[in-house]
Amino acid sequence: KVLDGLDAPALARYITSGKCKNITLMLGAGVSTSAGIPDFRSPETGLYANLARLNLPYPEAVFEINFFRRNPTPFYTLAQELYPGKFRPTITHSFIKLLATKSLLHICFTQNIDTLERRAGIPAHKIIEAHGSFATQRCIRCKVEFDDDSMKEHVLLGKVPKCETCGGYVKPDIVFFGEDLPSEFINGIPRLADSDLLIVLGTSLTVHPFASLAGIVEKDCPRVLINLERVGDFGSRSDDVIMLGKCDEVVRDLAKTLGWEEELQRAWEE
Ligand code: OAD
Repeated sequence: KVLDGLDAPALARYITSGKCKNITLMLGAGVSTSAGIPDFRSPETGLYANLARLNLPYPEAVFEINFFRRNPTPFYTLAQELYPGKFRPTITHSFIKLLATKSLLHICFTQNIDTLERRAGIPAHKIIEAHGSFATQRCIRCKVEFDDDSMKEHVLLGKVPKCETCGGYVKPDIVFFGEDLPSEFINGIPRLADSDLLIVLGTSLTVHPFASLAGIVEKDCPRVLINLERVGDFGSRSDDVIMLGKCDEVVRDLAKTLGWEEELQRAWEE
């Protein structure tokens, strides 16, 4: 065992011991719900429970590449609501930035497409946006890139942008079901072996290959789950720490235990 207990004080002792140099994070939609962005699978509030107005055959179709090829309108209706710009990073994002400031952040793997990691000031080279983001876009047919400003205009009006070269539909570089994950993700996998600690936050760990990262870290790498519910195989390893609750609250308590409470607050107010 690496940890001398499975609670917050034991975790804090390890983080500040000098032995824990590389902290890897895995993020999901639960870290951004307090910013006002719904997650996907929460029964009442999740996106998939609230898409009746889009007349989809099943909720996930809105993010399926084969469905998008035939009918991109539901995606663009949703994109209008989810488009980054109006959301502010959460205290949890600021905690990750603090880890980076303290040279403790190894990699921040995120499934989120809201770009709140960058906006919180986490260095870009530390972030792996495994499911892409709204930052760039291209034609799904000829792959030619599409202009940022024109894209923004279309999305904010809920209109479907079309390629100026071939007339194909334009899609943000978000990874849809049926598409490969970016090379940054694949290249990041071997680096998991250097992790001294893994913290998984706000994800149901249901979507692969992302979810499998949690099983790839070395057996002697302690794993922490911060989530509303138990997910994945957390609890199956002797150094698994499970901290159930809202990310922001758990992270604030952890920061307090670490003696970082004021720094965290300052980072968030910046
Ligand atoms: P999910 O909606 O599947 O899971 C969110 C998890 O966060 C659930 O376990 C919630 O209980 C938990 N949660 C919600 N709010 C929370 C809070 N404030 N504090 C702590 N936990 C909270 O979202 P993801 O796991 O991110 O992919 O979903 C994975 C992928 O499925 C997404 O990237 C997206 C989606 O389809 C694509 O679209 C390709």
